[in-house]
Amino acid sequence: MLVVAILAAGKGTRMKSSLPKVLQQLAGRTLIERVLAVCNGLNVNRRIVIVGHQEDKIRESLNHIEGLEFIQQSPQNGTGHALQKLLPVLKDFDGQLLVLSGDVPLLKVDTIKKLVNTHTKKSADVTLLTATQKNPKGYGRVFTTKENQVRSIIEDRDCTKEQLDNHLTNAGIYCFEWSKLKEILPNLSNKNNQGELYLTDTIKMMSLAVHTEVEDVNEVLGINNRKQLSICEALLQERLRNYWMNEGVTFTDPSSCTISESCTFGKDVLIEPQTHLRGKCKVGNSCLLGPGTLLKDVELGDRVKVLNSVIDNSKVDHDVFIGPFTHLRPQSTISSHCRIGNFVEIKKSHIGERTKVNHLSYIGDSQLGSKVNIGAGTITANYDGRNKHQTRIGDNTKTGANSVLVAPIVLGKDVTVGAGSTLTKNVPNGSLAIGRSKQLIKEGWSSKTASFP
Ligand code: UD1
Ligand code: CA
Repeated sequence: MLVVAILAAGKGTRMKSSLPKVLQQLAGRTLIERVLAVCNGLNVNRRIVIVGHQEDKIRESLNHIEGLEFIQQSPQNGTGHALQKLLPVLKDFDGQLLVLSGDVPLLKVDTIKKLVNTHTKKSADVTLLTATQKNPKGYGRVFTTKENQVRSIIEDRDCTKEQLDNHLTNAGIYCFEWSKLKEILPNLSNKNNQGELYLTDTIKMMSLAVHTEVEDVNEVLGINNRKQLSICEALLQERLRNYWMNEGVTFTDPSSCTISESCTFGKDVLIEPQTHLRGKCKVGNSCLLGPGTLLKDVELGDRVKVLNSVIDNSKVDHDVFIGPFTHLRPQSTISSHCRIGNFVEIKKSHIGERTKVNHLSYIGDSQLGSKVNIGAGTITANYDGRNKHQTRIGDNTKTGANSVLVAPIVLGKDVTVGAGSTLTKNVPNGSLAIGRSKQLIKEGWSSKTASFP
């Protein structure tokens, strides 16, 4: 039997944030979600999250994950105090307790499996994960015997100068025999620099404590402050980009681009500098993204080109060229072979196949047919100050430059709209619509008078 407890009750004072620390994000996912994801690869009987500081926010953020148990630790008197809260809950439990830290998010499942295997094989009372850190500041130091058993862990703040020279650090990840730990937990003392009950103090009270050292130190980086958060983000981004490069994606300047874990790419995608993909993005084959592009929750078909543009929660079919400087706002769908151009904003609209919206337009709450040509500066006036209204434009219709289409309005198929028109009435199929005042010419006017009539 394996029970997992995740420590997530602390304030995270060093983050200086209004968010609880474990709700900070890396590559679009919270720290606590990342730690929980590690459990998915393990055969676990129960998952218990220990919460306290801003616990409501943490519970709410995890309410999409089934089968989680929450235990309250309030006030938060240290990591040992947190585990004391398990005593009533695991009264009849007799198995292994895996303790994970909510602020150690880059851990890999194989590392945990190795930890649990070592623990079982050695019949230890506790097995902990260790790492030799170049810069061990802030980490508890692990002291071992000649036989490589763990004698004690001393927290950074409680170490003497000599003890600080030991670079073998505690990762904050442990596999305990619960039957042993439950006897020791009530005996913890708070005689230390922080006046807290340290889980690390249980180690020296165990008869057999062993450790496994991680190969990749980065896996056990703990996040206590923003600097450490940014280091982990950079590591994670590098992992993600390397993965996708192996899968056939080219980055011209990898370190200037960021992607989220829920993005997928086809083959021969080229990602130019300063391009960022957030949320869930699905990119087809041979797309060209960037430079200077931001995509969030976007689906792109094959051979889509997006240059210097922002696309949010929208779907673009194959062979579309977007940009430079396009903003596709949520719930827009662009069909294949469209050209959405320079300085164009589209919101909650459907654009049919081979339609062009090439220059300086706003298209909102609209349905456009296929092979429509939207002239430069055409605007749908969709808002009357209270409500939003729909615009519908049929196949093959052309609007002249600087047209204003006052919604609700329907332009039929094969309609032509004269440049500079303001249209407020529906236009039937095949018609020409002109809605502007007639041009006035006064010949020889400038030689007769200097003032405007
Ligand atoms: C802890 C370890 C240290 C180790 C380091 C690894 C202790 C005493 N020290 O130090 O040896 O090198 O992690 O990253 O355990 N938490 C609670 N309740 C509390 C206090 C903390 O649930 O009362 C949670 C925090 O939310 C956090 C985790 O425990 O997720 C670790 O706490 P933190 O204060 O960050 O411990 P460190 O100082 O990093
Ligand atoms: Ca920490």
